[in-house]
Amino acid sequence: MADRVAFELRDDVYRRPLETATERLGIGAGWKCADVGAGGGDVSVALGKIVGPTGRVFAIDIDPRRRDQVAEAASKETQVIALTQAAEELLLPEKVDLAFCRFLLLQVVDPKLVIERMASVVRTDGWVVIQEAITSAGRIGESPISALAGTMRHPDIGIKVPLMVHELGLEMTDCWAEAPVALGDTPEARYLEAMTDTLMIEEPIMLPPIVTTIARIRR
Ligand SMILES: C[S@@+](CC[C@H](N)C(=O)[O-])C[C@H]1O[C@@H](n2cnc3c(N)ncnc32)[C@H](O)[C@@H]1O
Repeated sequence: MADRVAFELRDDVYRRPLETATERLGIGAGWKCADVGAGGGDVSVALGKIVGPTGRVFAIDIDPRRRDQVAEAASKETQVIALTQAAEELLLPEKVDLAFCRFLLLQVVDPKLVIERMASVVRTDGWVVIQEAITSAGRIGESPISALAGTMRHPDIGIKVPLMVHELGLEMTDCWAEAPVALGDTPEARYLEAMTDTLMIEEPIMLPPIVTTIARIRR
């Protein structure tokens, strides 16, 4: 199945953790945000809708092809600005209220450096929000979904982020895990099929939990 379809399914099945995080933080109109490792722009567009025309979302990705994808996805949200940049060298024209990343740290060489860079672009008393998976915790029935770790550098980075945040001297204000669980021919089963080539509809599945870590930036 095409990558794009897999990403669309993934965006759907992990929509709830994104909503939980934005609601708990109370993001509102006028916020300035950075979506680091923005990919196709799912998070950028969601943030753009919340912050509205008076806000701003910098959608940053190392892959220049993502700039056009984000521009297309965010065509109605003029406050979304797509930039090609490595997260390790993150540098923005202004400080932001929130730096967000989802499914990024599992790919990068040095996740702690990226968290540090994210914190560096946030204003005093602003926020860093990190949503990363614990891939090995996914289940088909009682068995781990071993096929998902694939080529990820850090498949279980979600459980390591709180310690990294602590070691960087950031104040962790909230942290929780959410996992989509489903039975039957559901978007979750179709996403798993896209990732593993196996459609599993007779047993319950739990996709890898995503850990949301929220840190407040005090200086
Ligand atoms: C799995 S996608 C996640 C996309 C998006 N955050 C989401 O949740 O839909 C990871 C994205 O991170 C980008 N990426 C990987 N390494 C990066 C780095 N060092 N700096 C910036 N972006 C990076 C990739 O190009 C890719 O678009």
